[in-house]
Amino acid sequence: MRSDDSWSPGPTDLDWIESLARPLLPAFAAIEAAAAPTRIPILDRDAGRVLGALAADRRRICEVGTAIGYSTLWMALGQPPGGTIVTIDPDAARTDAARIHWRSAGVPDEQIIVINAPALEAFAGRHAAPGPFGGAPDSTGAPEPVVPGSAGPPAPRSTGAPGSAGPPGLAGAPGLAGAPGNSGALDGPFDLVFIDALKEEYGAYLDAVLPRLDPGALVVADNVLWSGRTSGARPSRSGDGTDALRAFCVRVLGDDRFIGTILPVGDGLLVAAWRP
Ligand SMILES: C[S@@+](CC[C@H](N)C(=O)[O-])C[C@H]1O[C@@H](n2cnc3c(N)ncnc32)[C@H](O)[C@@H]1O
Repeated sequence: MRSDDSWSPGPTDLDWIESLARPLLPAFAAIEAAAAPTRIPILDRDAGRVLGALAADRRRICEVGTAIGYSTLWMALGQPPGGTIVTIDPDAARTDAARIHWRSAGVPDEQIIVINAPALEAFAGRHAAPGPFGGAPDSTGAPEPVVPGSAGPPAPRSTGAPGSAGPPGLAGAPGLAGAPGNSGALDGPFDLVFIDALKEEYGAYLDAVLPRLDPGALVVADNVLWSGRTSGARPSRSGDGTDALRAFCVRVLGDDRFIGTILPVGDGLLVAAWRP
């Protein structure tokens, strides 16, 4: 309970919290600097710190929406040795940039597997199987992974990057691709799933990951306050993602198989533990 009901945290409190943090690694600063001018929407730094703490005992993480790797890096540096992250984003130029930042932070390539495809296609097995570090198609000729909920046999391998005719992801970035070997990367089970891609698809991402969650797994989703639109504090427009985000929050927090809440950090971070 608050000692003073009339008080809410303000800028002074946030600055003080920031002043207590350990110095920011240069890779985080580099990503923040790269994201701002290009308007790539990355997680708020304070939400990143929460994500890093949540990842501390999570060995098998799945992320939907990589961008240039900011949230991935917070989780990668938080998780225990031997942990892995499978991260999905159809934008290979962004994930190539992410790999460079991860390397500069000392994250081993094999810790993070990138899948360059729209997430719902990837979860349905309709994507090029990644090499150990993602992006490159699996050249083993092994069949595509068959995953729970898949509507049928996988479609022929796509490039992973919509509209791209060449190999996915890593063209022009030699050395970022890996050898074959991660065709089942999305099979799970996962002990943390972080959702931060298309707002209209949050519910469908949840449908896809539920069969892949370990008991006790955390589902974390960014932007659920949507700058005040989800709660109605600020006006929203039809089709701006508000209704989808609201439905997602109502669904997760109303499901008694989850124990969760929304942290008013950054743009709102939903955190829910899966206790089926
Ligand atoms: C908000 S950004 C992710 C930011 C990142 N999580 C971070 O904090 O650093 C959303 C990302 O979702 C990606 N995206 C768009 N459509 C997608 C889809 N269908 N599946 C997965 N990712 C998608 C975009 O390319 C974009 O990079």
